[in-house]
Amino acid sequence: MVEKTSRLTGFYKLSVEERLRLVSEWSGLSREEVELLGNFGNLPVKIADSMIENVIGAMSYPFAVAVNFRINGRDYLVPMVIEETSVVAAASNAAKMLREGDGISASAGPQEMIGQIHVVKVNSPYEKASEIIKLKNELLETAKQADPVLVKYGGGPRDIEVRVFENTPIGNVLIIHLIVDVVDAMGANAVNTMVEALAPQIEKITGGEARLRILSNYATRRIVRAWCRTHVDNVGGREVAEKIFEASVLAEIDPYRAVTHNKGIMNGIIAVALATGQDHRAIEAGAHAYACRTGVYRPLSIWRLDGDYLTGYLELPLQVGTVGGAVKVHPIAKIALKILGVQTAKELAEIMAAVGLAQNLAALRALVTEGIQKGHMRLHAKNLAIMAGATGDLIDIVAERMVKDGLIRYDYAKKLVDEYRSKGGWNSSGERV
Ligand code: MEV
Repeated sequence: MVEKTSRLTGFYKLSVEERLRLVSEWSGLSREEVELLGNFGNLPVKIADSMIENVIGAMSYPFAVAVNFRINGRDYLVPMVIEETSVVAAASNAAKMLREGDGISASAGPQEMIGQIHVVKVNSPYEKASEIIKLKNELLETAKQADPVLVKYGGGPRDIEVRVFENTPIGNVLIIHLIVDVVDAMGANAVNTMVEALAPQIEKITGGEARLRILSNYATRRIVRAWCRTHVDNVGGREVAEKIFEASVLAEIDPYRAVTHNKGIMNGIIAVALATGQDHRAIEAGAHAYACRTGVYRPLSIWRLDGDYLTGYLELPLQVGTVGGAVKVHPIAKIALKILGVQTAKELAEIMAAVGLAQNLAALRALVTEGIQKGHMRLHAKNLAIMAGATGDLIDIVAERMVKDGLIRYDYAKKLVDEYRSKGGWNSSGERV
């Protein structure tokens, strides 16, 4: 037998259909599997094929909207794409608790990214650092010319900073930071273009070699803050509010808990990021680095009791855009932004932070009351009922029965569906007849 090889020369040059055929032969996919994989749904093949390389199909995730959100005095329907049950329901539920007055408050500053140039083989690094600072305006002008469009929209390079590292294992290193206001873009393209354009000039000034020329995803100049204050009665009473405060402190003293606490926040933030076509890896990388900025991994949010009120505060860097990248290419991301009704990256960041805070409240509340599994299992039961063939009203009937009997398993779901169907009263679509 000839051994299968993954060395497929020129695979990228094939059409989507040819690639899919090849993979299906390689992996022994059935006709149904090939059809399913090759169903691009709401993402046109041409767009998919231009977004990444070696495309053979598309994969759909549920697109939902979280309701009840009131942020900075304005109501929003929040699009979320996520595979995990309970997240959207939990966000909507917490948003309801936080609707009073202006609802959740959030504020983001200027949308500034940091572009880095790492220069190695530098003699007299402090001297070279001051040379760079002296020539700052000239350097900023070069960066400006690299992206005149950004400048036209009110953004562009703002400042230059230099960091010196002496006697590292690779000798002296200068790290130049170019601060760029990217306005409504995520900013990677603009910043990378600028630092690449700037590097030759930097090499000339320093006599060193510019190695890495790329933005930093540690977006510490793009911080967004969200905060809320709600009467203890809105979260289920003083006792629940006190336990939420305790849960916050537990995350503050224990990095193991803090990671999970922050994961809950990112459940909301990343779901909005996916729906609106953001670079969610950048967001995650930046957020977790920020959680660790004191040298110890800490929660991104804290909760406190203030008289009869529970207050929450969240702070993290968010690098998001409403122009450029997948945002403008993916038709569904465009629709998501329309549902959200946002124009600017600043507003999008504020909404995402508010959603993160609400998501966090919902998770803590569930944890300190009925526990996380009950709600999860209810929704999981629904999924199992659907997988077992239930449709219409039968989904809830089967799910509730599974929860009641404490048997949330696929085989039991199947048994119940068959049982209800055979009893009559249901047509083959699961509707009452
Ligand atoms: C699960 O996706 C998220 C939680 O673990 C968050 C938390 O523990 O705070 C429930």
